[in-house]
Amino acid sequence: MSFLGIDLGTSGIRALLIDEHGAPIGSAERHYNVSNPQPGWSEQDPADWVSALEDAIAELQSQFPAFADLKGIGVAGHMHGATLLDASGKVLRPCILWNDVRSELEAAQLDNMDQIRALSGNIVFPGFTAPKLVWMRNNEPEIFAKINKVLLPAAFLNHYLTDDFVADMSDSAGTAWLDVSKRDWSDDLLDAGHMRPNQMPRLVEGSERAGTLRADLARKWGVGRDVAVAGGAGDNAAAACGIGALSEGSGFVSLGTSGVILVARNSYAAAPDAAVHTFCHAVPEHWYQMGVMLSATDSLNWLSRITGKSPADLTGTLGTEVQSPGAVRCLPYLSGERTPHNDSQIRGGFTGLSTGTTTEDLTRAVLEGVAFGLRDSFDALRSTGVNIQSLLAIGGGSASIYWLKLIATVLDTPLLVPSGREFGAALGAAKLGLLAATGRPVSDVLTPPDISETIVPVAGLIATMKDKCKRFRNAYPSLRQIQ
Ligand code: XUL
Repeated sequence: MSFLGIDLGTSGIRALLIDEHGAPIGSAERHYNVSNPQPGWSEQDPADWVSALEDAIAELQSQFPAFADLKGIGVAGHMHGATLLDASGKVLRPCILWNDVRSELEAAQLDNMDQIRALSGNIVFPGFTAPKLVWMRNNEPEIFAKINKVLLPAAFLNHYLTDDFVADMSDSAGTAWLDVSKRDWSDDLLDAGHMRPNQMPRLVEGSERAGTLRADLARKWGVGRDVAVAGGAGDNAAAACGIGALSEGSGFVSLGTSGVILVARNSYAAAPDAAVHTFCHAVPEHWYQMGVMLSATDSLNWLSRITGKSPADLTGTLGTEVQSPGAVRCLPYLSGERTPHNDSQIRGGFTGLSTGTTTEDLTRAVLEGVAFGLRDSFDALRSTGVNIQSLLAIGGGSASIYWLKLIATVLDTPLLVPSGREFGAALGAAKLGLLAATGRPVSDVLTPPDISETIVPVAGLIATMKDKCKRFRNAYPSLRQIQ
């Protein structure tokens, strides 16, 4: 038996095949672009996701005979995106993504309405789905009038795979239309966002069977007729499933395009005032909270683009011994910030530049800026009362040991590095597919990985980092003032 996890990411798609023990068999990746038609806008064409998926599947099918014994599929997707379909199933416009901040005004208006935070459990951030739709109503009324269904990116792929309109709770929690404690669409929230319940997909738990792979796709992919498709998950919940982060206080720091600190919670306890996100987990009766910074590896990728050096070259020159921060400071707010500022307008900045500043100084400042931003999320999470003993380190940026040591020191918390290749959300998604197909107990399947290394804080630098972090925080209001 084999199971497929699809991680529909911001920069590309990953398809991962696992066996019945959850061990990876093989994977394939394809990349696509984000378009930025205006500053602060961020869009993708769903047709690119489908062709990337089909290419990746063709590779798995040709390289791994176990693919033919596929029994279950789970999809994880970048969260909050609005994919709009008309009554004939046609995509009405490019998907507006999670890091698009055009609907700042609409988000603030929704956020100020009575009961919105109480029902949704969250600040209505501009990146969430509901304000995007209000923006469309205000700015693209002809398209808005034609909307038959609104699907998050993962639910769009569920639709491609099953022909049904079906979404999971963890992803749907990021729309600001879901009553996150009741795990159901809220008529009041939909009403506030000018949406109708029949425009929403059916809801299932992420580990539940959502449907069956379309017969024509099963034929094309050379698999059996009864391949289960799970509800799936938002990418962060899926990554948490992949590392077995389900119980109170277990979680990860993820260095992807966005930077996330996520901790699982045993019960629902919203904390919108702390600017943390409180969402349903991808398995029943579990929730999680996370702090999100919008530009983590995105900040390093920006530096890579303007210096012409790859991110690995940039971080590689730093060695592995963490240094005390120098004169250059970076505020990595390239696309605005969510936790803790909820500020779409803020943009990044460097201070302390001199004629002697080198690329190495800038690299260190970027890594430090992201680490300090993550500390903001860490503190926001801790203010909710959760006890965090250690965090798994995941995401592309976690390949840099320098960065991990720096973050461990700034958070004053050990980071655990999973052994082997780390498959993040794709692994969690594949395991959700396994659960949906086999009905095995969640605790048997969503287990923690083996750990290859524990990165401990550098004792001699903890106090310095605490001080630098305070200065970083104090720099935000002045940056706000001069922009
Ligand atoms: C979470 C968020 C991002 C995306 C990135 O709220 O917006 O982490 O899910 O894929």
